[in-house]
Amino acid sequence: MKKVAVNASRVYDIIIDKGILDKSGELAAEVLKTPCAAAILTDSNVAPLYLERLEKSLQSAGFSAVSYVIPAGEGSKCAENYLAFLSFLAKNNITRADCIFALGGGVVGDLAGFCAATYLRGVNFIQIPTTLLAMVDSSVGGKTAIDIPEGKNLVGAFYQPSLVICDCETLDTLPDNIFNDGCAEVIKYGIISDRPLFDKLRTTPIKEQLEDVIENCVRDKRDVVNADERDVGIRQLLNLGHTAAHSIEALSNYEVSHGSAVAIGMAIISRAANKMGLCPDSDLVEILDILSAYQLPTSCDFDAHSLDEAALSDKKRSGDKISLIIPFGIGNSQIYKVDVSELEGIFEKGL
Ligand code: NAD
Ligand code: GLY
Repeated sequence: MKKVAVNASRVYDIIIDKGILDKSGELAAEVLKTPCAAAILTDSNVAPLYLERLEKSLQSAGFSAVSYVIPAGEGSKCAENYLAFLSFLAKNNITRADCIFALGGGVVGDLAGFCAATYLRGVNFIQIPTTLLAMVDSSVGGKTAIDIPEGKNLVGAFYQPSLVICDCETLDTLPDNIFNDGCAEVIKYGIISDRPLFDKLRTTPIKEQLEDVIENCVRDKRDVVNADERDVGIRQLLNLGHTAAHSIEALSNYEVSHGSAVAIGMAIISRAANKMGLCPDSDLVEILDILSAYQLPTSCDFDAHSLDEAALSDKKRSGDKISLIIPFGIGNSQIYKVDVSELEGIFEKGL
């Protein structure tokens, strides 16, 4: 069993092991001090695979459990499901002494987390991520959100979980394309600040070193979150590739998944950085090669003007400036503020 401690506004552990879904009840009882009512949020793909095991584990540890299943997919991270789950919590008399459990990928985690942050002004929250992306990124660090028609993640809160339980065996049932989406986020940590991780990913497939890779990524993310929980400084580095990615997701009506969009976004910003004389040729080649090796896309059909227009509604814009994360080389990405008028030209260079 691997354990990584986060020391943010809440102190909590991320536990990584094979088969620990069945120990969720005991692990949760240790953290919550006493068993209580558990309100589980999950989705229509994950429920038939893992919900019964989680419910049984919680019940054996003395919890009572009620479950709410949303349709799988980004479309479910919406205001309608937010309100519906809050009503479910109220109808089931969930109190501040109780706990919300997120069983699923980033969609379930973000929605459950936002409900936990706002229901009764905050109730206990435990993340049980079941995608690689959720294990290495979305379940850690306390960003919770829903999408509204005007944009993705436009409504949310910083709200740390009390515990994150990563059972690597749950990744066995992931379709390849969804596993690969998580690989994009793993590669991201390497490009941002972790050359040794990047090299490990080149020499050995992620599937063959899952627990080590997940631990490595959550340590990297933990360090960033400990230093800048509220995303006003170095946490912005975690948005490498995200300016273009959010545009691509929106322009494709969310047909392009978050992980694939991040892969394309990282390729675009790396090519642009290379053309701007900031990222050496050899690093650019390695970045594009590793994305392709993990069957991730590196280009899209949208033009620079459309990407720019979509990006300008991005919440990371501040006045006339936008923060881009530029890879100056693998393991050395930095925040780089540009005038909004320069963004289209930068996308043009990267396409
Ligand atoms: P997701 O939650 O939609 O899961 C992807 C698909 O995998 C879904 O169809 C789901 O039903 C299925 N699935 C999940 N676990 C499975 C399993 N073990 N076996 C079989 N199928 C399984 O998407 P995701 O890629 O996990 O997360 C993307 C979301 O995360 C986006 O909304 C993104 O904005 C958000 N995100 C949030 C943060 C954060 O810091 N909060 C960071 C990155 C991404
Ligand atoms: N996924 C970006 C962040 O947590 O800040």
